[in-house]
Amino acid sequence: RRHAHSIPSFTHLNAVTHDDLAHFAKILPPNAILSTLPPNLNSADDLVPYNVDWMGKYHGQATTVLRPRTTQQVSDIVKFCASRRIGIVPQCGNTGLVGGSISLQKEIVLSLGAMNSVRSFDPVSGVLAADAGCILESLSDYIARYNHIMPLDLGAKGSCQIGGNISTNAGGLRFLRYGSLHGTVLGLEVVLPDGTVLDQLSTLRKDNTGYDLKQLFIGAEGTLGVITGVSILTPPAPRASNNIFLALPHFKNVLPLFQTVKRQLGEILSAFEYIDRTAYDMGLEHGLGPILNPDEVGDAQCFVLAETSGGNHDHDSEKLNNLLESLMSADEPLIYTGTLSQSPGQFASLWALREGLTECLQKEGKPYKYDLSVPLAEFQNVVDAVRARLISKGLYGDHGITKVMGYGHVGDGNLHLNAIAKYGYRPELEAALEPFIYELVASHKGSVSAEHGIGSMKTSALRYSKNDVSIEWMRKIKHVFDPLNIMNPGKVLPSV
Ligand code: FAD
Ligand code: MLT
Ligand code: ZN
Repeated sequence: RRHAHSIPSFTHLNAVTHDDLAHFAKILPPNAILSTLPPNLNSADDLVPYNVDWMGKYHGQATTVLRPRTTQQVSDIVKFCASRRIGIVPQCGNTGLVGGSISLQKEIVLSLGAMNSVRSFDPVSGVLAADAGCILESLSDYIARYNHIMPLDLGAKGSCQIGGNISTNAGGLRFLRYGSLHGTVLGLEVVLPDGTVLDQLSTLRKDNTGYDLKQLFIGAEGTLGVITGVSILTPPAPRASNNIFLALPHFKNVLPLFQTVKRQLGEILSAFEYIDRTAYDMGLEHGLGPILNPDEVGDAQCFVLAETSGGNHDHDSEKLNNLLESLMSADEPLIYTGTLSQSPGQFASLWALREGLTECLQKEGKPYKYDLSVPLAEFQNVVDAVRARLISKGLYGDHGITKVMGYGHVGDGNLHLNAIAKYGYRPELEAALEPFIYELVASHKGSVSAEHGIGSMKTSALRYSKNDVSIEWMRKIKHVFDPLNIMNPGKVLPSV
């Protein structure tokens, strides 16, 4: 059922045996081990939450899932797996979109979800230390009482966990304001592939004492070690948040709009998100709206959601009101219409239309998801080129791809291109999309993964964004940390 590229065979790895389970039972209590093997004999259904990804695209074959509660237990498990050459797939919320959290062969799944305690929070510095298995939204709720927010936010916040966020170097909706996890993560505790605990759970803002090892694990997608603890800088909650939703007649207006919005809103601009017409209509069909008057929207080609986070609600909404007025009254208006949220409920519903798109896609069929960095000016061209390609191949329509759409974090140059296969993933559809899309991205000197990662989906596409020398040094780093290649094998790096 798996529909990834060719599946590597792991001749260097062993499958879990009855004896191995007996050893794991010495490390973990019975309820922390799930296995289809005797003596546990869990059903395959029990393992589905760990063996199937969020999209239902990747189907793993793990026979055994381990759910440790302590770093020591993780260390003991990893040490044993290294001695027995058993592959390990670290897993947190299993919301990743590139197949990274799913086993390729018979690796065990090491689920961090039971390690879910906050370790400390300093309300003065805003530094939060937490177990890797804490759900992002739970951490947001925890620090809300101190008037702080997490520096990242994403549609999967209710399920994804901070260790997974860091392992994928997740971007999300606050990237424009608070930047990358490479900046906000201050320290990590990592169990290395031989079982050693690397304690770098620093809470220091500044630390120039040589190589910054923790950076290697941010975005490593579990290929270099298991993140067990995290220390992260959280900003004070903005006193006021507002948002505005705008309908644009043409895609070409997005860039001048972005410039105008940045100029007029200045430092209070905190998000600038993009939705094309196909995505907007899909959202409405699934009940996410309407938030704009359909008569005023007319034939708008695309939409922008901008958010402000500032210190004074009245001041910020006046700025947004002035922005809206000036946009509407210009000689050649950049927008058809727009709406400014007037209440927390409206603020949430404007965001719901943007954040809800990922789930709508799942309801429409099976989405092929491409998470690209390309120049802003090319967003629409890239989407149009992919649609044209499918039409030319006779694969556009009810029998193949029913919709091609773009949305994303336009303020960060990150386009989410999605193609929906109404009746499921099929090799000929994938062959029409790949490597075509990757070649297109490379022609714009873009990235084949802006924020979702490489996982197992894009190992063969890595070369479109990384040159041979870079890949060679990535391999060397992998070998230094994981010479036995037990840690998430077959992910990120292409097989040789
Ligand atoms: P998992 O899916 O469990 O794992 C992801 C990868 O990290 C895997 O390779 C896994 O092996 C590795 N890993 C997990 N835990 C550890 C660990 N403790 N140590 C080492 N390696 C580990 N991504 C964005 O960047 N921006 C978005 O806006 C965004 N929105 C999303 C919206 C929805 C509705 C969904 C379903 C996904 C979205 N994503 C987004 C994808 C994103 O990558 C994840 O949601 C999130 O960062 C993954 O966290 P997770 O806990 O689910 O990790
Ligand atoms: C988003 O920005 O909505 C997420 O990255 C998920 C997706 O690409 O659908
Ligand atoms: Zn995104």
